[in-house]
Amino acid sequence: MKAVQVSSYGGLEVLAINEVVKPEPKAGQILVEVYTASINPLDVAVMSGSLKDMMPIELPFTPGGDFAGVISEVGEGVANFALGDKVFGSANVVNGGTGSLAELAIANVVNTGRMPKINFETAAALPLVGSSVVQAIEEHMQLAAGQKILIHGGAGGIGHLAIQLAKSIGAYVATTVGTDNATFAKELGADEVIDYKKQKFEEMLHDFDAVYDMVGGETTNKSFLVLKKGGILVSMLGQPSEELAKRNGVTVIGQNTKTQTKNLSRVAGLVDGGKMKVNIDKVFPLTEVKEAFTYQKINSPRGKVVIKIK
Ligand SMILES: NC(=O)c1ccc[n+]([C@@H]2O[C@H](COP(=O)([O-])OP(=O)(O)OC[C@H]3O[C@@H](n4cnc5c(N)ncnc54)[C@H](OP(=O)(O)O)[C@@H]3O)[C@@H](O)[C@H]2O)c1
Repeated sequence: MKAVQVSSYGGLEVLAINEVVKPEPKAGQILVEVYTASINPLDVAVMSGSLKDMMPIELPFTPGGDFAGVISEVGEGVANFALGDKVFGSANVVNGGTGSLAELAIANVVNTGRMPKINFETAAALPLVGSSVVQAIEEHMQLAAGQKILIHGGAGGIGHLAIQLAKSIGAYVATTVGTDNATFAKELGADEVIDYKKQKFEEMLHDFDAVYDMVGGETTNKSFLVLKKGGILVSMLGQPSEELAKRNGVTVIGQNTKTQTKNLSRVAGLVDGGKMKVNIDKVFPLTEVKEAFTYQKINSPRGKVVIKIK
């Protein structure tokens, strides 16, 4: 079978497509024929080696987590999935999988869900970003109708789904995006769109209930100025300052997304219920995997970049 492989840590030059031995599912695992995969900033970080102290990985490995496909083998003790089931989830090596950028991938059943009633390309775009949004907005923030939320990076993979979920709940949504993505964010339903390249959100917004941060750094710190007392800041880029949280009387959470069955099932429900629609910016064949990562890095994609494998 063909698989993308990383033999030494580095940039895109370390990616190669090789013939490798088919992996065997162990207890609690499934083997998936991967139809489509999607790429995430996490994949670039794992390839670069910047996370190797936190998440040790044996080289060579296959990068990629998000997949959509069909189960072709089940390991011992797997009762809730069967051969031929259409599934989506994470096969990331950091979750104990064998990597999704391959014709076949092993995933743990706990990182697998039943696909919503959409095609493989769209389903593969959802696992990490969809689970992130559900965990942040429903579990951590418990966002309610009438509340005000600021979503940073509203045109990105996570941000564009976050806008839709927050609007479906009935919240007032402000979002920061780059200049070219303002219309896209409006079309997703955002009430207020702020161009982060030209405007200062911290001078424009006040008394917000929640901030969902997909950017980090100074953007995280300035977000405290937007929140009202009792508000909540969830960041995807590490733990925000506890000291600033205390001073401003707000709750802070540095989220570590769990791409698990519970979150995936909720994502599928929201998609099937018409509450969330993932936007596919561009689809690449597996042979153009380097081009796909380059496109993701330099083109400010609207939503997600997908790799078609079958
Ligand atoms: N902790 C976890 O478990 C976890 C899980 C998933 C993702 N993440 C992290 O979360 C972040 C977002 O993920 P993603 O998949 O949504 O990435 P993405 O698709 O690359 O989206 C990021 C968005 O942020 C925008 N942006 C960049 N600088 C900005 C600024 N100063 N102000 C406002 N927006 C800005 C980008 O716009 P332009 O393209 O126009 O610059 C882009 O649309 C990534 O850093 C990722 O590594 C963490």
